[in-house]
Amino acid sequence: MTWGGRSVVITGGNSGIGLKAAQALREQGADVTLGCRDVARSQRDAPGFEVRQLDLADLDSVQRFAEQTGEVDALVCNAGVMGGPMLMTTQALERQMGTNHFGHAALIARLFGRTKRIVLISSIAARGGRLHPGSTAEELVTPPAYDPMSVYANTKQANLLFAQELHRRVGDRVPTVAAHPGVSWTNLFLRQLRENGQGWLVPAAKVLGPSVLQSATAGARPTLMALDAPSGSFVGPKLLNQWRGRPHLLDVYTTGSDPVTAARLWEITEEVLGIPLPS
Ligand SMILES: NC(=O)c1ccc[n+]([C@@H]2O[C@H](COP(=O)([O-])OP(=O)(O)OC[C@H]3O[C@@H](n4cnc5c(N)ncnc54)[C@H](OP(=O)(O)O)[C@@H]3O)[C@@H](O)[C@H]2O)c1
Repeated sequence: MTWGGRSVVITGGNSGIGLKAAQALREQGADVTLGCRDVARSQRDAPGFEVRQLDLADLDSVQRFAEQTGEVDALVCNAGVMGGPMLMTTQALERQMGTNHFGHAALIARLFGRTKRIVLISSIAARGGRLHPGSTAEELVTPPAYDPMSVYANTKQANLLFAQELHRRVGDRVPTVAAHPGVSWTNLFLRQLRENGQGWLVPAAKVLGPSVLQSATAGARPTLMALDAPSGSFVGPKLLNQWRGRPHLLDVYTTGSDPVTAARLWEITEEVLGIPLPS
């Protein structure tokens, strides 16, 4: 199906797979709006797109963005951070969980009723997520022993669990699909190196990354397929343990499919955000 004439909001669409998805949708004639934390830089990165300020690490910014958004045909929850030091969002949530999960959950809650389809970008890292039915809000908000990549895995597990739970609750009224881009060469890796004080590795990474990993263009294809996939499905590549290749409908990972864990995450999310989630 073409997205010509339809409207799509993409979070973090100024870079990586979000930008490639935005460009492909624009080529189809879609009306694409990007939600980005630095509007001026994003207008340079993504010329010709409508860019509006959205910092997922600030729930007030999420609320403002939602209030300024009219009806849209699809919301793509794409933005994300991976690893780095333990940092907190404006509302004192651990930054990775605050951005990747809580910020997007708040945006979905506030835009619900005005979006016809929701896509959440997860990751193969979700397979290593450790959220479980006994997880607590404190563990998500202030992880006791901060291990950056374990926290990242939990955030991507949260994206997958949340997509599944939203599908169970609202079904085809607002189709919700999760996708992952395999492993694609984007700024995600360079930012992580810089934040870890390993900026000296950036030149080597810029040479090696594009030759080893699939392109951001290839990584955007699951997002595009998810815009037409059935509610509750999970889209991503299959080759090399799902690192690359063209997108397919996948089995949801065990870590992302347990309904008890998903219901617990839902409860925690409502408690942390203090707003009702869609039903
Ligand atoms: N690349 C991969 O191999 C891979 C694998 C699995 C999953 N993913 C997922 O794919 C998604 C896109 O990542 P990418 O690989 O395309 O990386 P990227 O090029 O670094 O793009 C990430 C985007 O998220 C935005 N962002 C970060 N924090 C934000 C915040 N607080 N508020 C608003 N936007 C924010 C970034 O904006 P700035 O430009 O301002 O930083 C950027 O536009 C992420 O959810 C990531 O977890 C990627």
